Amino acid sequence: MLSRIGAVLLFGVLSSPAWGASSDVALKTRDWSFSGPFGTFDKAAMQRGFQVYNEVCAGCHSMKLIAFRNFADLGYSAAEIKALAAQYEVQDGPNDDGEMFMRPAIPADRMPSPYANDNAARAGNNGALPPDLSLIAKARPNGPNYLYSLLSSYGDAPNGKEVPDGMYYNTAYPGHLIAMPQPLYGDDVEFSDGAPTSIEALSADLTQFLMWAAEPKMEVRKRIGVAAVFFLSIFVIFSYLAKRRIWADVH
Ligand code: HEC
Repeated sequence: MLSRIGAVLLFGVLSSPAWGASSDVALKTRDWSFSGPFGTFDKAAMQRGFQVYNEVCAGCHSMKLIAFRNFADLGYSAAEIKALAAQYEVQDGPNDDGEMFMRPAIPADRMPSPYANDNAARAGNNGALPPDLSLIAKARPNGPNYLYSLLSSYGDAPNGKEVPDGMYYNTAYPGHLIAMPQPLYGDDVEFSDGAPTSIEALSADLTQFLMWAAEPKMEVRKRIGVAAVFFLSIFVIFSYLAKRRIWADVH
């Protein structure tokens, strides 16, 4: 009986459609500034990534968990954030007449969604739901390399493979058929700092931005981790010396 349960559990684990695991193509990789125990975000890249999100992705994808004031992490000043927020409209209310109304956003508001609700989002995308991107970098295994690859791996299906209407061929996506039309072609935006705008460069900047969005406190976490390991290492040395001292007469 137990072995039956074990077999079922094992089968369940092995047959679950693990993201990434089912991708038979190696993902493109890059040396990310945020990798490793000393990793930090690249503010200029994040600002560019936000610009790409804003101009290309925000038409379909929400980022509901991000408030405008969070953009201080990207290096924007309070005045810049205020001006940025004011470009968006958010719903507020009800007012004294019980009606909802639109008003310009303030820094404390979260970024508004492109669609009123999920059904409207599906209706606008052939039935497919563009997921919220706030946490997507953490929601996919190998998130940064996956996002970077996904955005730059569109192409024609190999000979004999049929691509259904409304689907697109993408080697990085598990199963290779995705309902998102290719969003980036290169030169989709113009950067004020003159940074490159190839598909790869835009994808890399977006990935920086989406990684920050998914884990804004990453730098603090890593700093504390490094300090803790340093402290514990010193502590081990002192513990060892103390032990030698205490047991000195016994041996
Ligand atoms: C025209 C609408 C549209 C635009 C523009 C768009 N997307 Fe999508 N996106 C979709 C849809 C629809 C899906 C769901 C695809 C599916 O379920 O097959 C999706 C899915 C995704 C996913 C999830 C993939 C997964 O592993 O499930 C990511 C990540 C993503 N988009 C990122 C982006 C980024 C970044 C941009 C901007 C460069 C962008 N999208 C622009 C419609 C769009």
